[in-house]
Amino acid sequence: MFSKIRQSITAREAFELVQADLEVVEQEISVESVASGEAITTINHYLQAGGGKRLRPALLLLCSRMFGAANDCARRLAAVVEMIHTATLVHDDVIDLAKTRRGRPSTNVIWGNHMSVLAGDWLYMQAFQVALRERNFHLLDVLISLTQMMVEGELLQFERLHRIDVSEADYMELVDRKTASLFSACARLGGIAAGVEETVEAQLSEFAWNLGMAFQLVDDILDFTSTEKILGKPAGNDLREGKVTLPLIYALEHASAEEQRMVETVINDASYENVPFMRILQILERQGAIQRAYERAHTFTEKSRTLIAEFPESPAQRALYGIVELVTERNS
Ligand code: IPE
Ligand code: IPE
Ligand code: MG
Ligand code: MG
Repeated sequence: MFSKIRQSITAREAFELVQADLEVVEQEISVESVASGEAITTINHYLQAGGGKRLRPALLLLCSRMFGAANDCARRLAAVVEMIHTATLVHDDVIDLAKTRRGRPSTNVIWGNHMSVLAGDWLYMQAFQVALRERNFHLLDVLISLTQMMVEGELLQFERLHRIDVSEADYMELVDRKTASLFSACARLGGIAAGVEETVEAQLSEFAWNLGMAFQLVDDILDFTSTEKILGKPAGNDLREGKVTLPLIYALEHASAEEQRMVETVINDASYENVPFMRILQILERQGAIQRAYERAHTFTEKSRTLIAEFPESPAQRALYGIVELVTERNS
């Protein structure tokens, strides 16, 4: 009972633990957002002001803190991962023809595709510039492999767009590349900043990989179950964009021919004009697909909790449970 109480740190408390470091990270991002051209600086400041959960920097800082006080290196790397994350979102919105991000018009809507691609490129390179200052080949290796992994993931997703015959394995491969790899790198980099051994780096990486898998699964569930107001991006977006995600993959396994046709219609129309979103929700409901997808997400969070238990006991270690809870319980 007692240990249960000590374990139950909320997500808010977890963020509070690294609040002071996160403020330094924001400062660092702001300073590093200044380009010689005014346009890119303006876009960068727009992106930073748009908010976002700052989940990846928090994760990195907490992992670092488990193995020593968060140092300058950890804070700089926390800024680096947030910048890489932001750059991928900017490019992702161009590719997905997205209109909204973090509750505001996406950069491509305001500045157009050309400017957005260039701003994203600049941000990637700026992130690497900051990382380069650490003069540590190992962490550059992690960051470059990660970025390539994510870009390959986006490409794979693009190639599979508008296809209804996506398997669960195909889907998991994509999630691994586009989301879990970044989470995994964050934890690993936190460890590197604290000077941990390679075996610990691997443990950190595995823990956060499972967390990242769950995070994207939940994101894909929320795309069906949440609202634009809460999400900061329209609900039902994935299917409209031609992406068949886990809840639909499950539902399609036993769907009738008519139900399959409905899904195909939304993909082909790229809208819910002929098949309302409600009809798709009914299909998911009938097949218990949301529930099943949540259960799958929980297998990843359970695994990540098991791995946290192996880390040395500390406030930062307990805070990681709070982060896991945030991922499973979040609605935005
Ligand atoms: C969005 O990530 C991209 C996904 C992996 C689903 P977040 O939901 O963490 O985005 P922000 O940074 O909080 O806006
Ligand atoms: C998230 O992909 C972007 C990356 C992880 C690179 P999605 O296209 O699924 O995410 P949202 O829905 O735009 O946030
Ligand atoms: Mg997208
Ligand atoms: Mg999505």
